[in-house]
Amino acid sequence: MIQFLLNNQLVTEKELDPNLTVLTYLRSRLRRSGTKEGCASGDCGACSVTLGKAVKGKMQYETVNSCLTLVSTLQGKQLITVEDLKQGDRLHPAQQAMVDCHGSQCGFCTPGFVMSLFSLQKNSESWDRHQAETALAGNLCRCTGYRPIMDAAVQLCSQPCRDQFMQTEANVVQRLEGLNTPEMLELKGEGRRCFLPKTPEQLAQIYLEYPDASLVAGGTDLSLQITQQYKKLPVLIALEQVEALKVCSESETHYELGAGASLHHITDFLAERIPGVSEMLQRFASLQIRLQGTLGGNIANASPIGDASPMLLALNASLILQQGEKNAAWPSTRFLPVIGKRSCSKGNLSAPLRCLK
Ligand SMILES: Cc1cc2nc3c(=O)[nH]c(=O)nc-3n(C[C@H](O)[C@H](O)[C@H](O)COP(=O)(O)OP(=O)(O)OC[C@H]3O[C@@H](n4cnc5c(N)ncnc54)[C@H](O)[C@@H]3O)c2cc1C
Ligand code: FES
Ligand code: FES
Repeated sequence: MIQFLLNNQLVTEKELDPNLTVLTYLRSRLRRSGTKEGCASGDCGACSVTLGKAVKGKMQYETVNSCLTLVSTLQGKQLITVEDLKQGDRLHPAQQAMVDCHGSQCGFCTPGFVMSLFSLQKNSESWDRHQAETALAGNLCRCTGYRPIMDAAVQLCSQPCRDQFMQTEANVVQRLEGLNTPEMLELKGEGRRCFLPKTPEQLAQIYLEYPDASLVAGGTDLSLQITQQYKKLPVLIALEQVEALKVCSESETHYELGAGASLHHITDFLAERIPGVSEMLQRFASLQIRLQGTLGGNIANASPIGDASPMLLALNASLILQQGEKNAAWPSTRFLPVIGKRSCSKGNLSAPLRCLK
């Protein structure tokens, strides 16, 4: 079972195929067809939706590509789609700005752009043009051209954010916090299952029980097996709920980057610590992908064109691997530090990655 808020409505899904993407779920199950499918591979942004998370008593909004996001990711979050923005007859300021600036022609890309603009405005107390360009870089438009859309971003972000989401923020935070339970959840459907451990210990245990399961972190690589290769993955273990894997920290001698930390979070974390790496990470895909994709996923995917491995080699980084039964005492001296090489054997990269200062 998973639970999440669809805008303000609590949704409990007791049985759902965990191979479903949020895009298919929205369009085929909920008949919410405002969110569009362009490429189904994370490139065009037509499927962008916003995921709201409660972080330290406030809402944080992230635009993600729903075509690559598996439904298990929705657990404990607020899903906002283009259908949720309008209030009565009044368009949301993000939609109105697109109208005022003539930011839409055929309209296929427009819901995606609107959701990127929405998240940009919600998260930016102060903003600049670079931020707006970054927020829109994962959305493609074949007919309007980008100047009017950038004008819409400027119009939107130049006004104070006043919308229905501000009025309900405290209530939504409280409701999302109520969905945050300590026990491991499981989503089943169509003969497939996905485990959602909350702690490294639960993750270690369930991976021991299901060593052939597919681990899914951001899903920006793994989901392509479902959407492009039409594979069915019978057992999944989602890492997204394991907050301990997302932590990035600094000690006197080194930085530790959690394998589950998103590339976006790592970019922010390293911005002043190792600016060159942070700058390089900003060239990685789009904001949508960086918000979901993780460093652990990039390494474990072992793509010959993956960008993280050369970067980690250049930093003389150590990977701290965790394997099977050794997971039980996480974190402990039983981690196997591997200095200067990627000796992964049949390991689980769920432990932090370490870069020497
Ligand atoms: C449009 C697009 C653009 C992209 N651009 C780039 C780019 O510019 N540069 C680049 O390098 N990559 C790029 N990628 C690839 C991808 O986004 C990255 O590799 C990303 O870091 C994968 O992380 P993830 O968390 O989404 O991995 P997932 O898809 O969740 O997982 C990938 C693989 O890693 C395994 N895995 C995940 N986490 C762990 C863990 N902690 N321990 C063990 N195994 C684990 C999974 O089982 C799976 O086999 C792009 C992808 C898309 C769709
Ligand atoms: S449909 Fe193109 S990014 Fe999702
Ligand atoms: S308005 Fe047609 S693709 Fe953007």
